[in-house]
Amino acid sequence: MNKYINADSQQFFAFNVWNIESAKAVMDAAVQSGKSLILQTSMKAYEQLDKEEFITYVKSYGKKKKIKIFLHLDHCRKIDYIREAVDCGWDSVMIDASERPLSENIKMTNEVIELAKSKGVLVEAEIGQIRGQEDEISSVTDGIASIADIQKFLKNTDIDMIAAAIGTVHGLYKGIPNIHYDLIEQIAEITDLPFVVHGGTGLTDEVLIRLLSYKNVKKINISTDVKLAYKKGIEKSMQKSVMEVGGFDPLAVNRSIHDSIQNMAAKKLRLLEKGKAT
Ligand code: 13P
Repeated sequence: MNKYINADSQQFFAFNVWNIESAKAVMDAAVQSGKSLILQTSMKAYEQLDKEEFITYVKSYGKKKKIKIFLHLDHCRKIDYIREAVDCGWDSVMIDASERPLSENIKMTNEVIELAKSKGVLVEAEIGQIRGQEDEISSVTDGIASIADIQKFLKNTDIDMIAAAIGTVHGLYKGIPNIHYDLIEQIAEITDLPFVVHGGTGLTDEVLIRLLSYKNVKKINISTDVKLAYKKGIEKSMQKSVMEVGGFDPLAVNRSIHDSIQNMAAKKLRLLEKGKAT
């Protein structure tokens, strides 16, 4: 079984995308920086995708450009979607049953493991509740994961990546994030599973570099930043000065969105060198 992400693998940024254009912009950042990356789809984006056409495009573009691109289903709470993603060829899936009691989270995660593992698809699960807004998920509790719960979860499941609430949030931060770096270290002491950081948007380069300095941090998720870059690209192409020169040009709008997303993603990918864990 090809575990693309494991204790010895490289570290990845995982960018949330919603269609072929946003995927291409992120992949062009991978080409530009020579880094492999993960493209991930939220449950809502996944619902709207033409799955087979999307994966065919992503994999063939990656192959043509000689970059490794992995496809991940992010924060999924529906087993049917996971089954479909597994059948379509997604490389990994995240079962998010974190709002349920621990025993139910374990049970649901095991159901996913059973249907994913036989096809070589990796499974990410979440313990504790990562706060903020990701589709309609918005947790209300403080939710920092306890090491006892993590231990119990790991004893009773065979996941491939672990996401735990360490104080990062989805979406923009109000104030300075209080990240529990000690929890990342404690988790590394009990397991060599890749650790996934959610809520990458709004973390400064310094914080991202610090996170990447932990050997078990293997995946950092970036979603809101992709949407903000998209918005910035539209706004730039709509500026009066641009419009006066060329009039309304859908191609120019597309190009501006593409470049804005590519530049944002390329900047993040450059941090992989700076934060490299030893
Ligand atoms: P941000 O929207 O804060 O980047 O969070 C992304 C994420 O963790 C997706 O799972």
